[in-house]
Amino acid sequence: MANKYSSVGVAVYLAILGCLTLAQAVTLEVKQGNSTCIKAELSALLTIPYDTVNGTNTAQVSLPNSTTVDVSASSCGADGRAPWLVGIFGAGHTLGLGFSTNGSLYSVVNLSLQYNLSDTSVFPLANSSDVVTLITSSVGILAQVNTTYRCLTATPVPVGEATVTFSGMKLEAYMPGDDLSPNESVCTADQSATTTSPPPATTAAPAPTPPGTPDRGDYAVTNGNNTVCLLARMALQLNVSYVSSSQNKTIQALFNLQPNQTSSSGSCGPTSAILVLMQEQTTNLSFTFTLNITSKRYHLSGLSLSAAWPDMATPVSASNSTLTDLPGTLGMSYMCSAEQVLEVTPAFSLNTFKLQVQPFGLSGDQFATAEECQVDQDNMLIPIIVGAALAGLVLIVLVAYLIGRKRSHAGYQTI
Ligand SMILES: *[C@@H]1O[C@H](CO)[C@@H](O)[C@H](O)[C@H]1NC(C)=O
Ligand SMILES: *[C@@H]1O[C@H](CO)[C@@H](O)[C@H](O)[C@H]1NC(C)=O
Ligand SMILES: *[C@@H]1O[C@H](CO)[C@@H](O)[C@H](O)[C@H]1NC(C)=O
Ligand SMILES: *[C@@H]1O[C@H](CO)[C@@H](O)[C@H](O)[C@H]1NC(C)=O
Ligand SMILES: *[C@@H]1O[C@H](CO)[C@@H](O)[C@H](O)[C@H]1NC(C)=O
Ligand SMILES: *[C@@H]1O[C@H](CO)[C@@H](O)[C@H](O)[C@H]1NC(C)=O
Ligand SMILES: *[C@@H]1O[C@H](CO)[C@@H](O)[C@H](O)[C@H]1NC(C)=O
Ligand SMILES: *[C@@H]1O[C@H](CO)[C@@H](O)[C@H](O)[C@H]1NC(C)=O
Ligand SMILES: *[C@@H]1O[C@H](CO)[C@@H](O)[C@H](O)[C@H]1NC(C)=O
Ligand SMILES: *[C@@H]1O[C@H](CO)[C@@H](O)[C@H](O)[C@H]1NC(C)=O
Ligand SMILES: *[C@@H]1O[C@H](CO)[C@@H](O)[C@H](O)[C@H]1NC(C)=O
Ligand SMILES: *[C@@H]1O[C@H](CO)[C@@H](O)[C@H](O)[C@H]1NC(C)=O
Repeated sequence: MANKYSSVGVAVYLAILGCLTLAQAVTLEVKQGNSTCIKAELSALLTIPYDTVNGTNTAQVSLPNSTTVDVSASSCGADGRAPWLVGIFGAGHTLGLGFSTNGSLYSVVNLSLQYNLSDTSVFPLANSSDVVTLITSSVGILAQVNTTYRCLTATPVPVGEATVTFSGMKLEAYMPGDDLSPNESVCTADQSATTTSPPPATTAAPAPTPPGTPDRGDYAVTNGNNTVCLLARMALQLNVSYVSSSQNKTIQALFNLQPNQTSSSGSCGPTSAILVLMQEQTTNLSFTFTLNITSKRYHLSGLSLSAAWPDMATPVSASNSTLTDLPGTLGMSYMCSAEQVLEVTPAFSLNTFKLQVQPFGLSGDQFATAEECQVDQDNMLIPIIVGAALAGLVLIVLVAYLIGRKRSHAGYQTI
């Protein structure tokens, strides 16, 4: 057995790539002898719902740059097995891509995700210690032979109840040489991104926009059969601390998300829904909403940011999957017109304005009745109180006037 696999020499390069790719790009390479047959450069965010003693939690983990190729599971396909790239990280978690070709096209025929629930750093309070394997054969990665598949846009792929969101992806299988082919098969999401927005400025790349109030954008997620399953309307401002390469120190910057340069994608499951917003391949924001079936309530449970702005000395990634923000009721939308500050990590918070979201229970592509946040309700009370106070004042003045008039009238009569 060992002989069979020893011919598969495997090299792994870890790279944090330059400006136009996202944080934590991992490079994985499968080799046979001295020649490379599969090479992938990608970032991946894994969103995994799991059971705890008291309900469902959602874990969010980025493919770390300590990911290596699992030599015994990977293959170039020469030994009668299908070409297979398996990355392994942490406590035995793996992400696998299986390939096939018909001579002119190649594709990822299945995507597998294996995770170890006994890893409490990723799955706190899990009620099981099983190793779970999920697989899907609908991946949608297809390219011409002798070209590199390129998809920089964040692309969520549902795998069972979990979701793998790839971004900044370049990969090639059945490689003619050792490097990625210069010819590219560009995914449709990247094609529409370049046709609907102006060509990215190469000199003054999309650096943090000077703050002001951000513009409001409308974002939607559709599921497999093209029905809208998540709606969000909101204005977003990122508050990020990072090491500035121009100033050589840590600075705090506000960055308004520009709706007209932002694409949305995502996926919807029965108890978790994901919205991924990506602005020009340099800013990637992922929202995870979780539904508690028992209480019929949902909330924003996870938020993660990857940013690679020109002035950043190193790309920034920040995520938190134990949030309890934006609480709503199933069948209703959640609305908050007032500014809210969502604290994600000490280095990143998200300011929201004029927000309305509905991650579950949509019928049609309209928001259901809105449930207003407490701040809005309080803000609405102020004009009512002021109005009531004014009305009271007017009444008092009126009564005083009437009494006064009656008195003076009575006064005349006595004369
Ligand atoms: C791999 O390359 C080295 C030197 O570059 C060479 O000595 C060796 O024979 C090669 N092995 C194979 C299997 O081609
Ligand atoms: C689950 O229960 C534990 C204690 O039994 C508690 O610490 C934890 O906060 C609970 N988690 C949730 C999500 O309710
Ligand atoms: C874990 O909890 C879920 C529901 O919370 C339950 O359905 C499942 O049987 C539990 N699994 C174990 C191994 O206890
Ligand atoms: C779901 O809601 C029920 C009822 O409010 C609560 O007891 C339970 O802890 C919640 N589960 C989670 C995972 O929050
Ligand atoms: C799963 O994680 C536990 C604890 O981290 C570890 O002891 C175990 O070996 C892991 N299982 C696999 C299959 O890697
Ligand atoms: C490979 O598949 C594509 C699409 O299914 C088809 O258009 C093409 O003709 C096939 N090529 C060969 C060599 O069979
Ligand atoms: C791919 O490139 C190899 C080597 O350059 C060549 O032999 C092969 O015919 C090419 N295949 C296609 C479909 O272009
Ligand atoms: C994944 O696809 C490969 C290639 O078609 C196939 O050999 C393998 O059995 C598939 N794996 C599973 C688990 O379906
Ligand atoms: C679309 O799929 C969802 C489940 O995935 C189902 O509930 C819904 O009825 C389907 N809608 C249509 C129009 O087929
Ligand atoms: C940046 O600052 C550090 C200490 O604050 C200093 O050691 C380093 O030389 C500075 N680098 C540049 C390029 O100014
Ligand atoms: C995007 O919106 C901003 C502000 O509304 C505007 O200045 C800019 O020209 C717009 N860009 C495009 C490409 O529409
Ligand atoms: C995640 O958010 C929770 C609630 O806001 C906070 O208590 C926790 O410290 C945050 N975790 C990290 C890693 O910042």
